[in-house]
Amino acid sequence: MTGSGGATRGALLRRLLSGGPRLTVGMLTADLLHLADELADLRTAGVELVHVDVMDGVFCPALTVGPPVIKALGPDLIRDAHLMIQDPLSKLDQFVAAGADMVTFHVEGAPQPYRVLQVLGQATNANDPDRGVIRGVGINPGTPLSAVEPLLDDLDYLLILAISPGWGGQAFLPSTAGRLEAARRMIERSGRPILLGVDGGITRDNLAHVATLGADLIVSGSAIFDGTAGAAGRAASMVDAVRSPARVLAS
Ligand code: DX5
Ligand code: ZN
Repeated sequence: MTGSGGATRGALLRRLLSGGPRLTVGMLTADLLHLADELADLRTAGVELVHVDVMDGVFCPALTVGPPVIKALGPDLIRDAHLMIQDPLSKLDQFVAAGADMVTFHVEGAPQPYRVLQVLGQATNANDPDRGVIRGVGINPGTPLSAVEPLLDDLDYLLILAISPGWGGQAFLPSTAGRLEAARRMIERSGRPILLGVDGGITRDNLAHVATLGADLIVSGSAIFDGTAGAAGRAASMVDAVRSPARVLAS
């Protein structure tokens, strides 16, 4: 898994740090029998990233998908793997080999979080040997931001969860706004180029408000892939809301 990842991990990071915020769309509720069409709809709508929620039934109660699905998604969208798994260190190579461009693990599930970041820092992106993998750390609502402060020199992406992962139908926690603001200040103090993301309970109704809270990446899945036709239209309107939240909030 080793390579010169640092160089053009920077290129993708610089792209995502500018021109945001961006939507990264959760694919768990997509029509998995027509995944290629669903992904084409996202691209048509202007979506650049697909978010894959990997849950192992241990770190959180749900069991979802793993590396084979990440591989099946193909390289057309940036593959954003969110690992809600226990002890990610022993499994990183499978996600990198499957083509993940971004790997986000949870500090609550990693006995050695710094080691996980070191390994990710040496990873070679399976889509392009000259690229690296964006190193993400996720934190659940009950985890203080101070838990990630010692890791800021070695991560590229901080993902704030607005719900407790693994249970469906939760509402966006109002405390998330303050956590995003504090995380933004912590990143600024670090002086490092770090993406800030928010995930969970984000719908078409609250998206424009969430887009004003300072995140670079906003995760939403079932608001787009809700089991009915029209995902492309819903995705396009949400891309628009993320790009112009003030106009949407004023309308
Ligand atoms: C937490 C996951 C989220 C969640 C978001 O369980 O990390 O990505 O699935 O999906 P929606 O937008 O469908 O709530
Ligand atoms: Zn997620």
